Amino acid sequence: MSIDDMKKRAAEAALAYVEDNTVVGVGTGSTVNHFIDALARIKHRVEGVVSSSEASTQRLKACKIPVLDLNAVGPLPLYVDGADEANRQLQLIKGGGGALTREKIVAAASDKFVCIADQSKLVDVLGHFPLPVEVIPMARSHVGRELLKRGGQPVLRERFVTDNGNLILDVYNLHMLEPAKLEAELNNIAGVVTVGIFALRPADVLLLGTADGVQTLQP
Ligand code: A5P
Repeated sequence: MSIDDMKKRAAEAALAYVEDNTVVGVGTGSTVNHFIDALARIKHRVEGVVSSSEASTQRLKACKIPVLDLNAVGPLPLYVDGADEANRQLQLIKGGGGALTREKIVAAASDKFVCIADQSKLVDVLGHFPLPVEVIPMARSHVGRELLKRGGQPVLRERFVTDNGNLILDVYNLHMLEPAKLEAELNNIAGVVTVGIFALRPADVLLLGTADGVQTLQP
């Protein structure tokens, strides 16, 4: 079975968490694209969605699923999104697609965060995947130096601008033994918009697509 089939399995399993007549938070990425396709089949059952990126918004609109403004709908019962890495505490690294800031906002505004991923995303310790950090353009060098001081190797994502008009530094070699502590510390560097560690608000459920079916992990 291909990795993409495993992503699809996890995405399909997330439909079970969608309640009738509610607004669903929708993340970004190839796994979420499968979720959007699945959601399109039951779109008459939901009021609409809040999207975490321009890319997801385009796909949702193509599926004729109403995309609503987070400010107009208040807290959401459910957020469904992928991850680049997840540990068994359901702390995540996200932002491989560069949508981390809006993803973190929608996750924060949701009661339940269901993460969908293929089995390759589960790790013992976060940090093999380079950590995406969204930065205000004028702060790029300053933030880079601060990350170097902490042992990271920041690399500017070439030819990439986020939906918010900012830059992404992908940071290699960070030790993430205490992800929540590191998230708080990096968030505090002036010029950092969002760090791709989702540990202060981890996922509540991880649906892991495997060759044998879907595993449900809870911390
Ligand atoms: C987008 O910015 C990311 O946070 C994605 O959720 C993450 O990269 C997972 O992507 P895939 O579902 O494509 O693996």
